Amino acid sequence: MLGYRSDPETCRYLPFEPQTADDVDRFLTTRAARPVLDSPDSSVPLGVALPHGGPLVGDVIVFVRSRPDECVELGWIIAAEHRGQGYAAEAAEALLAFAFDEVQAHRVVARMDPGNAASASVAERLGMRREALLIEAERIKGEWVDTLYYVLLEREWRASHP
Ligand SMILES: CC(C)(COP(=O)(O)OP(=O)(O)OC[C@H]1O[C@@H](n2cnc3c(N)ncnc32)[C@H](O)[C@@H]1OP(=O)(O)O)[C@@H](O)C(=O)NCCC(=O)NCCS
Repeated sequence: MLGYRSDPETCRYLPFEPQTADDVDRFLTTRAARPVLDSPDSSVPLGVALPHGGPLVGDVIVFVRSRPDECVELGWIIAAEHRGQGYAAEAAEALLAFAFDEVQAHRVVARMDPGNAASASVAERLGMRREALLIEAERIKGEWVDTLYYVLLEREWRASHP
């Protein structure tokens, strides 16, 4: 995990700077140690590992954004040397099933910098709709950035997963 989370290229569009061992320890002992979806910003982070005891190649996450609105957000990271093999898409497809079937989400969003073509491709592969482009609506790492919203409603997901 430290290998890919300390990689500047991997972190380019993530909301954090390349991480240290202490940062990864903090993530594992706080957020990852309490995988419960009960309040805004609570989350379930999951590792993405290759089968048969293979290596960890990345991690994905489901966040609660608004409990009353049943809105959750997904995130995905795959180590550079394991990209382009469908791992993010496969893991994110499992997250969608978890979000709609287990969490009873009404609306699932994925947010990204419009320059993050790889992440947008993952969202499109999942059948998410490109819904909005917010201009300089948030400051990430000291810079005002645009944010692209991809969205999937439960009824849209059920229509393609009868
Ligand atoms: C985004 C990311 C998770 C994609 O991981 P991945 O395992 O390579 O993605 P997949 O192999 O599942 O590819 C899914 C789709 O994206 C496409 N894709 C992957 N990388 C791409 C790229 N650099 N440019 C354009 N499309 C790309 C694939 O071709 C595939 O499309 P298809 O279904 O039409 O064939 C990975 O690039 C990453 O970790 N980036 C850094 C972290 C990050 O920015 N996370 C997202 C923050 S919003």
